[in-house]
Amino acid sequence: MRLRSIELVLPKAADAADFLVNVWHTKLAASPADARTDAKANTHYIRGSGSFPYLVALEEGEESFVRSVTFVCEQADIDRIEQNARAKALNVTPETSADLGGGHGIIVEMPEGELFRFLTGSEEVAPIDDPDLPVKLTHVVCNAVDAEQSGLAVEEILNFTVSDRTKGMVFVRCNASHHSTAFARAGFNSLNHIAFEMADMDAVMRGVGRLRDYEYAPAWGPGRHGPGDNVFAYFIAPFGAVVEFSTAVEIVPDDYQAGAPEDWTWPENRIDQWGMSDKDFAGLKDAEANFKFKRTWQPA
Ligand SMILES: [Fe+2]
Repeated sequence: MRLRSIELVLPKAADAADFLVNVWHTKLAASPADARTDAKANTHYIRGSGSFPYLVALEEGEESFVRSVTFVCEQADIDRIEQNARAKALNVTPETSADLGGGHGIIVEMPEGELFRFLTGSEEVAPIDDPDLPVKLTHVVCNAVDAEQSGLAVEEILNFTVSDRTKGMVFVRCNASHHSTAFARAGFNSLNHIAFEMADMDAVMRGVGRLRDYEYAPAWGPGRHGPGDNVFAYFIAPFGAVVEFSTAVEIVPDDYQAGAPEDWTWPENRIDQWGMSDKDFAGLKDAEANFKFKRTWQPA
């Protein structure tokens, strides 16, 4: 199971694509101007250096919302997830992806409304040699009304595994990477942030420098987290979402012991391992509410 992409709908999708391509630094994989028959006509697709056809889909729409978060896996995984989801009376729909790269599978609406899409048979593409491109997405984090229940739900229904619990989050993995998603104890459901995996710490730091050239300061970072041990730098993108440069997420063994909130405490004046940056709590909190999940399909 691998996290592949996020599909957003938003006004001024072209401006969002322009930021991600020219400031954040990604590649435009397809745009409405290409008039491709193998991608949605009103959607910009941006990719990284890795083998996924795209990482973020930006579809033009009147309001901002998350259409789906997409994982790629085997048909057997999809069959098992569908069975589990239907047993819990969750909304499920069969899906033939009209997005770049195609593939087929299902979309599941989780108990709090997160829309997770599972595809098999989607295309992969030749990697690009550019150390400043993100390689892939490393995690997509959701805000949750009840993060504990959300963690249990993805364990039971998706066969994901809770890696750690902190005062603020429940971290969940779908492979050996410490977390591919997490649920923040926010009291409401929405997209919390999208993390792009950079090749190494230098690539994260050059990214921070590149954003600085365009007069964007980090909303938090650079720093190094506790759970997952990853290096991070968070920014509030002009299209409203919180985006992160990240690298070196911990690879954990199958028998990794999930930590509890009391295992993950900080000394005074620290909320990360380095303590070199301030966090824009208010700005992040606002931005983390901008994209909610919205189901645009009828359950089948
Ligand atoms: Fe993150």
